[in-house]
Amino acid sequence: MIKPLKFLISAGPTREHIDPVRFITNASSGKMGFMIAEAALAAGHQVKVVTGPVNLEYPEKTEVIEVTTAMEMHLAIMQNFPACDVLVMTAAVCDFRPIKTSINKIHKSDATFILRLERNPDILLSVRRLEKNQTIVGFAAETNDVIVSARRKLEKKRMDMIVANEVGGKEYGFAVEHIKATLLFKNGADREIGRCRKKDIAEVIVNEAIKIHG
Ligand code: C5P
Repeated sequence: MIKPLKFLISAGPTREHIDPVRFITNASSGKMGFMIAEAALAAGHQVKVVTGPVNLEYPEKTEVIEVTTAMEMHLAIMQNFPACDVLVMTAAVCDFRPIKTSINKIHKSDATFILRLERNPDILLSVRRLEKNQTIVGFAAETNDVIVSARRKLEKKRMDMIVANEVGGKEYGFAVEHIKATLLFKNGADREIGRCRKKDIAEVIVNEAIKIHG
């Protein structure tokens, strides 16, 4: 009998509104997060997902908290983190948000338009302050120097494991079925997975997270 763990998973992009009809976002589909949710459920664990706007069917037996902005995702993760055993941050959180969101639609009057942005908080850095015995898994979507950048993020954000994920091509990355990944661990080890289906790597990620949690 396995001991059921509580997985908290973030998924999808965030959306940072400029005005009621325009926003900054990215190409994340949320597939990876929801596949990890399915894999954790299939292995008998409890799952809660905090998701940005996605176009996916939610798995049964999963509590889904819908958010739009990075600030809302930050709040939802901070509120739910203390009760979880494993946090998996697959969400592609927007780094910046407009300093001001216009209440009304902005009309084109001038030839140029300057949009001022400010930094969003880093959710993984914030949860570290609340950490008790949680296992923390993050993702690094990179177009170049994938492993070096991912290892730097793992150390800076003090994760237990990071999924270094090559994006930017058509074959694998955001919004497609495949991923090209290497798992990097806090103890310096790594495990190259190569190109595989997101469904398959989801199972590997869940198993590795359970092993780390002990
Ligand atoms: O955006 P970056 O490449 O730094 O993302 C690495 C990891 O940090 C991902 O797991 C992502 O979900 C997380 N992240 C976060 N808060 C942010 C930006 C990213 O927790 N504001």
